[in-house]
Order: sequence, then structure tokens, then C-alpha cells
Amino acid sequence: MKTVKFGVIGCGLMGKEFASAAARWCHLTEEVARPEIVAVCDFNEAATAWFENNFPSVNFVTKDYRELLAREDVEAVYCALPHNLHAEVYADIIRAGKHLLGEKPFGIDQKANEEIMQAIRENPGVVVRCASEFPFYPACQQLIKWVKENKFGQIIEVRAGFHHSSDMDLNKPINWKRMIEINGEYGCIGDLGLHTQHVPFRMGWKPKKVYASLSNIAKERPDKNGNPVPCLTWDNATMMIEAEEANGNTFPMILETKRMAPGATNDWFLEVYGLECSAKFNSNEPDVFCYTNSWGKEQAWCKINVGYKPMIPTITGGIFEFGFTDAILQMWATFLQEIEGKEVFFGCCTPEETVLSHKLNTAALLSNKENRVVQID
Ligand SMILES: NC(=O)c1ccc[n+]([C@@H]2O[C@H](COP(=O)([O-])OP(=O)(O)OC[C@H]3O[C@@H](n4cnc5c(N)ncnc54)[C@H](O)[C@@H]3O)[C@@H](O)[C@H]2O)c1
Repeated sequence: MKTVKFGVIGCGLMGKEFASAAARWCHLTEEVARPEIVAVCDFNEAATAWFENNFPSVNFVTKDYRELLAREDVEAVYCALPHNLHAEVYADIIRAGKHLLGEKPFGIDQKANEEIMQAIRENPGVVVRCASEFPFYPACQQLIKWVKENKFGQIIEVRAGFHHSSDMDLNKPINWKRMIEINGEYGCIGDLGLHTQHVPFRMGWKPKKVYASLSNIAKERPDKNGNPVPCLTWDNATMMIEAEEANGNTFPMILETKRMAPGATNDWFLEVYGLECSAKFNSNEPDVFCYTNSWGKEQAWCKINVGYKPMIPTITGGIFEFGFTDAILQMWATFLQEIEGKEVFFGCCTPEETVLSHKLNTAALLSNKENRVVQID
């Protein structure tokens, strides 16, 4: 089987998730090029030590990502760094001729995103995608299949969201994800927004205008010494969007990104309401696909447990349950297939989709600031 030699820049939470997925490539039953992690970069030595201890294939460790990029044996990079570093590091990775799976929001703001896009335009042979794993849940794939098959008829409304309760604890110390200078002006939208947008954008639903309501609920948090410091990032955001289908039909699309949603651990959801039928998926019930069945004027909500039937087949029996780490593995296998130039049913989030995401997120900030509807060109 072909292998693709990887460097990992940023060996924190998400860097380790990739490594764990790469370690169980045997899970896949379809032939997909195997990622082999040969080099890692992080200035936190405990983080790189975890890679060295678990991956004998790692033969290069550095605190300077440029040293990793200079290595000829590195063919592709996973970069999972704080948002203020995305533009510079992603552009350097692409200009070094390495394939890249970058993390959202793919640039701390619209200007940073454009800098990354410029590097992509200069290097058309490099495969670049942005991480977004939730659409790979089999029950969500079922929903995507129904959109592609036009089962919904005229779309009435779409709702998508990502709800956390991670910040309900007001004593949780501030970290980089709650600091504007590192996480960005977008706050929770930059952290969670692209997750809600990947499927709608891929389905061809274009945002035309937006009204956004953003809340900064926890205005201060303790620092690492327990002293209260200002916390200026947006905790919760609701975007009321007018979206357009390819056939010109317009409909409301409501996107919610919340770090303070009581009771929600990591609820990613997508709901599509149509004239012919409707369907829902929520990662809180990871195997369940909900859809309506109609008799004349009446509609009944039905639930089917789709089980473990992912896009890329695996050794797991179809009656078992699917989870977050399985979605990560499916996303990674899809990215490797895209590097190999294979056709995929549903691909990883593209750089062009991140451009649209930044247009929408920037318009949402303006809408909230000026308390008005903002057009998106
Ligand atoms: N796809 C997802 O579901 C998901 C989930 C969480 C975070 N993310 C994204 O992943 C990215 C990273 O988030 P995380 O949660 O893994 O963060 P993290 O803080 O756990 O990890 C970031 C790592 O980068 C290292 N680092 C910081 N600056 C560095 C530098 N200049 N040089 C080398 N190393 C440096 C830190 O030491 C840390 O180990 C962000 O873009 C975030 O939005 C994605």
C-alpha cells in the first residue's frame, strides 16, 4: 500500500487526534494511502514527547516549523496551531510544496484567509483542505445523500449549529481560545462556525444576507493565577441568513455557534426542512437519522438507527455505534483519497469554502456591530 509521509505542526489536542487515526489505518477495508508521521513540531516538549513515545516512525522533532518544512521526506502536513499563526504557517507549508490539511477558521480573519489563498493560487499542484469531521457521521451522510437526490423538494428552512457547554463554568481559566489577539475577533464563530457551514456550502446553499446576534456572556475569567481578567471573545452567536439554492429559491438558514449552551456537550446538528420531506441529524444521537414520512397533509417524524455504515468501509460491523474518533478517521481517509486524486462522494472542506465562510463571518461581525442586515456579495 502507498504511504504519504506526514509532518505534524501543532501537537496539541487535534494533532494527537490525527496521530491516533493514523495509528489505526488497519480499520479501513478499502485501499487508501497510509499516512506515516515522520516529523513533528511544537514548542511544548511534552507534546512532541507523546509522539516520539507512541510513533517509532517519528525521526525528526523541532520547535521551528521551518526546519520541518525544509525536510524532503515530508510530503504532507497537518497543521493544528492557534488561529493567529494560520496565515503565515499555512502559506509557508503550501509554498514548500507540501499538501496541507489545515484547521479552521483557516486564517484568523478575512485578510489572513486571503494570504493563504494567494499561496494556494501560486501552487496549484498542492492539495489543500480544511478540517471538518462531523459531516462524516453515517447518519449525516444519509442526509447529504438525500439532498443530492433532491428528496426534500423546495427547501423551506435549514438550521445548523454547534452547541457546547464548555464555558458554563465561570471559574474555567482563560486560555488562547478566549483571547481576541490569538483566537480572533470572530470568537465562537471562528472556533465553531466552519463546522456548521461545510455541508450547507457544499450543498450549494449560498448566503445572500445575514443578521447576527452575538453575546459576550462571561465578561471576565480567572487567569492562571486565579486573578480575574477581561474575556472579550463572543461566547454565543446566532446568524439569521437568507440563503439561495442553485435554482434561485431563497430560504432562511439559521446557524448557531454556542460555547454556553446549557446541557450541550458537543452537539453538532443539521436540520433540513423541505416541501416534500424533512430530515435531521444531531451528533448527540450519533447513529440516528430522523426524517418525515407523509400521508397526504400529515407528516410523521421517523427515526432510523443507521448504525456503522461510513462512506469509506471499515472492519466494524454495521450494527455497532459510530463516534467522534471514527468521524476523524473518515475525514482523514477522505483527505488521503483526495491527495491520491480519487473521486469521493463527499470531500473535505475546500479552501474556496473557507473563503465563503470568512465572507459570512465578517458580515456577521459587521451586522452585530451596526445592528443591521448585511448583504454578502
Ligand atoms: N476539527 C476540530 O474539531 C477542532 C477541535 C479543536 C480545535 N480545532 C482547531 O485546531 C487548531 C488547534 O487547536 P487545538 O485544540 O489542537 O489547540 P491546542 O492548544 O491543544 O494545541 C496547539 C498546539 O500548538 C502549539 N504551538 C503554539 N504555538 C506554536 C508555535 N509557534 N510553534 C510550534 N508549536 C506551537 C502549542 O504548544 C500546542 O501544543 C485550531 O485552529 C482550532 O480551531 C479543531
